[in-house]
Amino acid sequence: MTKVYDIGVLPGDGIGEEVVREGLKVLDAVQEIHGFESRREHLPYGAEHFLSTGETMPDVAFERLRQLHAVLFGAIGDPRIEVGLLEFAIIAGMRHKLDLYVNLRPVRLYHESLCPLKGKTCADIDMIFCRENTEDAYSGVYGYAKKGTEHEIALQEMIFTRRCTERIIRYAFELAQKRGPKPGKDKPLVTMIDKANAVRAQDLWTRTFADVSREYPGIATDHAYIDAACMWMVKNPEWFDVAVTTNLFGDIITDLGAMMIGGMGIAASGNIHPGKVSMFEPIHGSAPKYKGQDKANPLATVLAVALMLDHLGEAAAAKEVEATVADLICSGRIRGLQAGEHSCTELGSMVRDRLLERARVRR
Ligand code: IPM
Ligand code: MN
Repeated sequence: MTKVYDIGVLPGDGIGEEVVREGLKVLDAVQEIHGFESRREHLPYGAEHFLSTGETMPDVAFERLRQLHAVLFGAIGDPRIEVGLLEFAIIAGMRHKLDLYVNLRPVRLYHESLCPLKGKTCADIDMIFCRENTEDAYSGVYGYAKKGTEHEIALQEMIFTRRCTERIIRYAFELAQKRGPKPGKDKPLVTMIDKANAVRAQDLWTRTFADVSREYPGIATDHAYIDAACMWMVKNPEWFDVAVTTNLFGDIITDLGAMMIGGMGIAASGNIHPGKVSMFEPIHGSAPKYKGQDKANPLATVLAVALMLDHLGEAAAAKEVEATVADLICSGRIRGLQAGEHSCTELGSMVRDRLLERARVRR
């Protein structure tokens, strides 16, 4: 019997619509090649929906998402709407309400020319970040007192629990085990990134990491404070394999990671609860200035589709999508990743056509 996956499609704002359309074009091709199907359900949430109905993302939508296998998400953010409102209701809404505790962000360089660092090769830049995705400063515990006065106080809590810290660290070790050692190494490596020397609450991370690592004697460990980790990323990216970090630091350092592999046009992300409905998205935002111009780069969304396929258990299809993107870059057919270098539709079609061509050659 043919496998059928139920996929929620939530394009959101700005360029979300365009990049998601290209992601689905690639999904069409890869499912045909690999012999599975998908049923897609469009979700209208985002700025337009909010402006016309006053609704951000209702409880029934989350209920519905729980019935699906995965969600492909574009971007949220619109200059007409108060900063953070839709981001919190929709992006953080999905991450928190669906308990998508892993934010998985690969940083893999497909061609040297895409990396702004002098002398670094593809072998040097192949790491994956496991960003905790439900707590920290994103917990939503914040407020103001004496607002608007010269004595105003603003606060936002960084919240960490043993349970959520432990599960993301454990996920990182399991992932390292699954990936195996990098070429030339005898063990996979998990690096924990925190700021426990200043954010003393993160001593919980130090202790939890030590406890969990004892269960994985076959995995090497390392530690870096976030400031030093940023320095190493630029100076010695080859030191990283699997990295695990808190929500806020993970947000920041993965933008740095994106720039090391060619920019926001190619950086993908999975918001995962293993075994449950999970959400996949490009790391970039809604880029309102490019909306409707067919200039946005859809490769980050295409690679998010690959992460989604992996989550669905279609590992071969996932690898093939990634290999096809790498192939188009390395052969020079994709000239560059900047917005407008190729049109959005052209890039989606290139990936689709090359996928079909590679499949024909194999048969
Ligand atoms: C990301 C984004 C979000 C985050 C914003 C839009 C709330 O920057 O997914 O990295 O901070 O997590
Ligand atoms: Mn971010």
